[in-house]
Amino acid sequence: MKDFNYYAPTEVVFGENSEEQVATLTSRYGGSKVLVHYGGQSAVRSGLLDKVCGLYEAAGIPFVKLGGVVPNPRLSKVREGIELCKQEKVDFILAVGGGSVIDSAKAIAYGVCYDGDVWDFYLGKDKARQMLPVACVLTIPAAGSEMSEASVITNEDGDVKLGYSNNLARPKFAIMNPRRTFTLPPYQTAAGVTDMMMHTMERYFTHDDDMDLTTDLAEAVLRRMKSAVFEVLKNPEDYRHRAQIMWGGSVAHNGLTGCGVSEDWATHQLEHELSGMFDVTHGAGLAAIWPSWARYVMHENLSRFVRFAVNVMDVPNDFSDPEGTAMRGIEAMERFYHAIGMPVNIHELIGREITDDEIREMTRKCSRNYKTTCGQFRVLSADDMEAIYKMAK
Ligand code: NZQ
Ligand code: ZN
Repeated sequence: MKDFNYYAPTEVVFGENSEEQVATLTSRYGGSKVLVHYGGQSAVRSGLLDKVCGLYEAAGIPFVKLGGVVPNPRLSKVREGIELCKQEKVDFILAVGGGSVIDSAKAIAYGVCYDGDVWDFYLGKDKARQMLPVACVLTIPAAGSEMSEASVITNEDGDVKLGYSNNLARPKFAIMNPRRTFTLPPYQTAAGVTDMMMHTMERYFTHDDDMDLTTDLAEAVLRRMKSAVFEVLKNPEDYRHRAQIMWGGSVAHNGLTGCGVSEDWATHQLEHELSGMFDVTHGAGLAAIWPSWARYVMHENLSRFVRFAVNVMDVPNDFSDPEGTAMRGIEAMERFYHAIGMPVNIHELIGREITDDEIREMTRKCSRNYKTTCGQFRVLSADDMEAIYKMAK
């Protein structure tokens, strides 16, 4: 069992009409001039953006708006936000949206307080020592950025997608109203659930299998997300199950399911090259990679895969054939992905066969020019990464 620090300082305000509290919370956390940051259309169409701005106006809190964040958020938008915040003397950033908007907000918040180029943090050239406070009104449960320390940005110059983690970036507050997720299309709903399940699985597949409570919690999250997603795909306005999923997204990525265990994150790193190169939805990219990763690494700790098959995927345990049981768990996961409209390989993800050159390029990027490994469950060399991409073709 690993020793651990658990740090989850975000104030979660969850439930019907929770966005009504946005102005009070912003003042409480020191915001006196706010950047309201948002994505394409969804927050405008639903009236959420107007509602938030109206609440700031009523409370006498000045704000400026910056929209246009796209999924796999771009560095150019971050730079635009940094300039705007400096000009307007913004001291607080509110993200209205999902992981992409929150991650863009975090990057802007770093950049405003830094004399150098914000991309330095993502390249690992420097560490942020301060940033503007960030908070969010979450509209899509998926990335878990509403409580996480991470931010993932795509530099269009070279299609490089990189993450940077710093505890300073954990949002001050996260407003979550499950009703605001009723408008999510089925594909985004399913990709979101896939992502949050993967955040749990990146921690579940570990060699530290003596932290039983963490494992129990992880299995509960996985089972609950797996069943709730079908309810909301059947009825998008099912508040009860939308709520399970919304809270599940946060629990999956606020560190709780990683206490006492070493974490893997290879599937995520392999996926970031896919969404960096093909601009696909992150959750769908994870589904395209995971089955191949799982088959490639399962012998590192077969009993963990057996446990996953039995406790999460409801596969009968064949004690005489642990490998078969583990394999049936992976196959059951593939059936689950298909049942919710997710791909299980790259061809299904991008709609065509990926070329060998593209695989080599992703391998080069994922291994940072053949200099780094990824993963913990099995430490993957560049050759391993290439082999997994080929299996996932
Ligand atoms: O742009 P709009 O019009 O708002 O549409 C968005 C977007 O197209 C739409 N949407 C959001 N809320 C909606 C809605 N549509 C209808 N009704 C609503 N209520 O959904 C689409 C996807 O939004 P996005 O923010 O991109 O989704 P998600 O939360 O999945 O974020 C994905 C990004 O987060 C990163 C991913 O790599 C990806 O770039 N991640 C961030 C992490 C973190 N910061 O901790 C961890 C994750 O592993 C992940 O890597
Ligand atoms: Zn993710």
